[in-house]
Amino acid sequence: MKVAVISGGNRGLGLEIGRQLLAEGVSLMLGSRDVEKGRRAAQQLLSTVKPDTAEVHVAALDVADSQSVAAFAAETANYYGQCDILINNAGIMPEARDGSLMQTSPEQFLEIFDINVVGSVRLCQAFVPMMKKRGYGRIVNLSSGLGQLERMGAGLPGYRLSKTALNALTRTLAAELNGSGILVNAVSPGWVKTEMGGPNADRTVEEGAETATWLALLPSTGPTGGFFRDKKAIIW
Ligand SMILES: NC(=O)c1ccc[n+]([C@@H]2O[C@H](COP(=O)([O-])OP(=O)(O)OC[C@H]3O[C@@H](n4cnc5c(N)ncnc54)[C@H](OP(=O)(O)O)[C@@H]3O)[C@@H](O)[C@H]2O)c1
Repeated sequence: MKVAVISGGNRGLGLEIGRQLLAEGVSLMLGSRDVEKGRRAAQQLLSTVKPDTAEVHVAALDVADSQSVAAFAAETANYYGQCDILINNAGIMPEARDGSLMQTSPEQFLEIFDINVVGSVRLCQAFVPMMKKRGYGRIVNLSSGLGQLERMGAGLPGYRLSKTALNALTRTLAAELNGSGILVNAVSPGWVKTEMGGPNADRTVEEGAETATWLALLPSTGPTGGFFRDKKAIIW
């Protein structure tokens, strides 16, 4: 049995990655800020996917709160006793698309970094020890083309900087864990129809989740420290 931990698992890409993994027989530990929303999402999942042995467990998780992360990791250890896959999906984009770096407050940058970057650090620190015990792990960081230095431009400054930092986290941790059996990669899902992406996005949530699911199920010969879109490596 494999267990995947997903932050922000109650809607959008996190929920769809969960659905795709469940269909592959992976059990889920769904983290949700609001447990009731998470439970409703889990019921919705189980009404569309009927796994033989895999199951879905929901627990409260606010990635900006270290105590919440510690309690969530303890519940995962008690319930499943293992974590094989970590999907760092929770994220916010609270800025206007044409927001200016000059007019974004330091507090706004810190709020975005706390969730989009440090939130993932908190989860890695909580779950990598469980992965190390089994000598196996797949970490998938939900990054964005907006964090790509090659294509960096104006607008959404807090979000862009946070996703570039998440890419750096991906490479740093991949290097640190090299040879441990734990593969760490980042994904750019494209522009996806979710609450964050909005209705005009050009990808369905199913399409947006596909590469993250693929990275979560990589064989031991798979890549680490890479950035992927549509299952192909892309430039940072
Ligand atoms: N949609 C796109 O076009 C797109 C493109 C590139 C990258 N991404 C990335 O993909 C990931 C998922 O995006 P999405 O489109 O599915 O967004 P979404 O629909 O807005 O969902 C975001 C999820 O993150 C959760 N979340 C936010 N802050 C949290 C916190 N402090 N602790 C725990 N959970 C928290 C939300 O929970 P609540 O329900 O409690 O708010 C929600 O479950 C994000 O990292 C995003 O940056 C999305």
